Amino acid sequence: MNYDFSFYMPVNILGGKNALQNNKNIFLNLGKKCLIVTGASSAKKSGALDDLIDVFNEMNIEFAIFDKITENPLTSTCCDGGKVARDFQADFVVGIGGGSPLDASKAVCVYATNAHIINDGIYTENVENSPLPLVVIGTTSGTGSEVSGVSVLTRENGRKQSISGKNYYAKYAIADAKYTYSVPFRTTVSTVLDALAHAIESMFSKRADFLTQQFALISIKMIYPILEKLNNTKELPTEQERDTLYFASLYAGFALNKGGTGFPHGMGYALTEDYNVPHGIACAVFIPQFLTEAEKANPSLFNDVLNAMNSDKNSAEKLIYDLCDLQLSIPDERINEYVARWETLKNFKNSPTEFNNKDAGCLVKNLFK
Ligand SMILES: [Fe+2]
Repeated sequence: MNYDFSFYMPVNILGGKNALQNNKNIFLNLGKKCLIVTGASSAKKSGALDDLIDVFNEMNIEFAIFDKITENPLTSTCCDGGKVARDFQADFVVGIGGGSPLDASKAVCVYATNAHIINDGIYTENVENSPLPLVVIGTTSGTGSEVSGVSVLTRENGRKQSISGKNYYAKYAIADAKYTYSVPFRTTVSTVLDALAHAIESMFSKRADFLTQQFALISIKMIYPILEKLNNTKELPTEQERDTLYFASLYAGFALNKGGTGFPHGMGYALTEDYNVPHGIACAVFIPQFLTEAEKANPSLFNDVLNAMNSDKNSAEKLIYDLCDLQLSIPDERINEYVARWETLKNFKNSPTEFNNKDAGCLVKNLFK
């Protein structure tokens, strides 16, 4: 067996029930002033914001809240957050939320200490000063952003683009699944499909190795039966299932952080930008085709995926399409635009076969006539 691997994970992950309260001493070394970066509601609804404020009050840490992060956060919003952090003289940042606030909080830390970087400049300018230290608290089971050095932002032209590297890792991640308990059904489905897509896409990445594939398989094994149940019952997961889903999303995050994503993620961005399709659904709808390509390229690894699902290919495809439940009609002109835009999409190169932008155009046409 070839078990070559290398694993780099600079995030100190502190998990378990009441992980925030139990690990509050981490804040002793981070400073006395914190900017909390979050969206309009999930930080409050999840209970994470109240818990954090209790800890800050106990420890005499002064804080300000920047709660302007929307879905698919704009570089300009994150740049504004950086300015707020500078004006407040924050020593560190805490990001609370699902993928959007967590990715945004990573960028806020970079903008805060690099006033020369404005908006889309984050993609091109040098990061001259170390970003502010970041603590992230996840509130959805999907993104894996807690454990990745990746931030996906939306450019001023409305296109999503990721940025990654050592400046985009949190210092600490608080992993307490109780903060996911209040996520509604449809968001739960979408975020868990995102985690499943991370696990499956990263499995077949050119950068995957033995260890990341094991992480991905563990994640698929944890997620799949719960997705089947969600689809059958249309009921919210139990707290125990929520715990499983949250930790599965972290395993998928470990795999994603090394392997990166394939064409489902690259193509999915367009559905989110133009049709407001939630990220997880927008990517997962292309997973059945990805599995077809994966089977051609690496039948043995593909069988490992089916074994982890304890399912067959047809049932897996049907389950994913049922959960996506996406009724879209995309006109030919727009599909032609996508084909042109995807000419340079790197995700195709990180996929298992020669599937390319033209094939992708045909797939979109078939799915969304
Ligand atoms: Fe994703």
